[in-house]
Amino acid sequence: MPSCVNPVPSAQENMGHYTGLIDKYRDRLPVSADTPVISLNEGATPLIELRNLPRLSGRNVRIYAKFEGLNPTGSFKDRGMTMAVSKAVEAGAKAVICASTGNTSAAAAAYAARAGITCFVLIPEGKIALGKLSQAMMHGSVVIQIRGNFDDGMRLVQEIARTMPVNVVNSVNPYRLQGQKTIAFEVIEALGDAPDYHALPVGNAGNITAHWIGYSESAGADTLALRHPEGMRDYRRHKIAERRPIMLGYQASGAAPIVRGRPVENPETVATAIRIGNPVSWQQALAAQHESGGWFGECTDEEILHAQKLLAQTEGIFCEPASAISLAGLLKDLGLGTIGEGSTIVCTLTGHGLKDPDTAIAQSAKPLTVDAELKAIEQVIQQHLPK
Ligand code: F0G
Repeated sequence: MPSCVNPVPSAQENMGHYTGLIDKYRDRLPVSADTPVISLNEGATPLIELRNLPRLSGRNVRIYAKFEGLNPTGSFKDRGMTMAVSKAVEAGAKAVICASTGNTSAAAAAYAARAGITCFVLIPEGKIALGKLSQAMMHGSVVIQIRGNFDDGMRLVQEIARTMPVNVVNSVNPYRLQGQKTIAFEVIEALGDAPDYHALPVGNAGNITAHWIGYSESAGADTLALRHPEGMRDYRRHKIAERRPIMLGYQASGAAPIVRGRPVENPETVATAIRIGNPVSWQQALAAQHESGGWFGECTDEEILHAQKLLAQTEGIFCEPASAISLAGLLKDLGLGTIGEGSTIVCTLTGHGLKDPDTAIAQSAKPLTVDAELKAIEQVIQQHLPK
């Protein structure tokens, strides 16, 4: 492992070439010229307008997907991790630790590798998607599987950090949310203002909090979602939006503590990324909901998988099951008529579908196997050509 970190050139030195979100938004992030920037050029993900689904929903709305699966490790976690690991290195940390349902561990492992520091990850045994596990392993982190769930891991990590020289990079680390808030800046830049609604999955509730902090700062507004205002400068003078969106947070029915108003002891869902029963940022998520006039809703595993397939097969966008709940929930609310006609809605698609190949394969048509002969192929084509 390298023993020191090479200084990364700033955006200016790169002649305008995109070098990640810390360089782009350093005027709105708690970094200084001396902060070592540990970046994989995360952020700047595409905002894709959905073409077919709005029509299928029967409503006159514009729906955009902010495809966070196109970050370097395949999820939105890279936004928070570039900040958390940069600040950890700045503070002299030699090791970071996180509990994870998979994506945080993949991002922590990658950014720690880039920084040349050690990474420990606690994951629930047998409950993380294959792609995420392969990332944590391949980037050389110390992977600790626990016979317990994410909530157990989260509790243990916070206890361990009190006695061991490890820096926690879960979203209890305020720098994580600072990095993740940049998604709101990008949406506003793309649309010219905030959308009417912003829908996203809610697990540990850090991301909805971060979205809301980003939107609030951008509109020059206060929010109770910012838990560590003393450590963070006041970025509200960077007003780039006239308004804030209504926030829609969706949880899986088997792991819906915020919807139910009480912790869930044994959370279960096919969307393993959000298999969480006692979210750390619960109160901040409620602040986002209250201040935005939004709501929380739940979707069954069937609804989640249906939305994942719809996105893949009608829009060409492959996201992981947890991400698809943004759309699943939105379609439900569109059906109920709770979202006004003519609205603009952004759905955060938090992670790439390739993260969880097992779930994708299990719900798809099996490949056809035929002899390597022209006739056999022709027959299959005949059967499948549109009539
Ligand atoms: N979507 C995906 C793909 C996730 O990985 C997560 C969280 C969420 C949504 C929910 O975000 O926790 O901020 O409310 N994954 C964490 C992890 C818990 O360990 O990777 P949240």
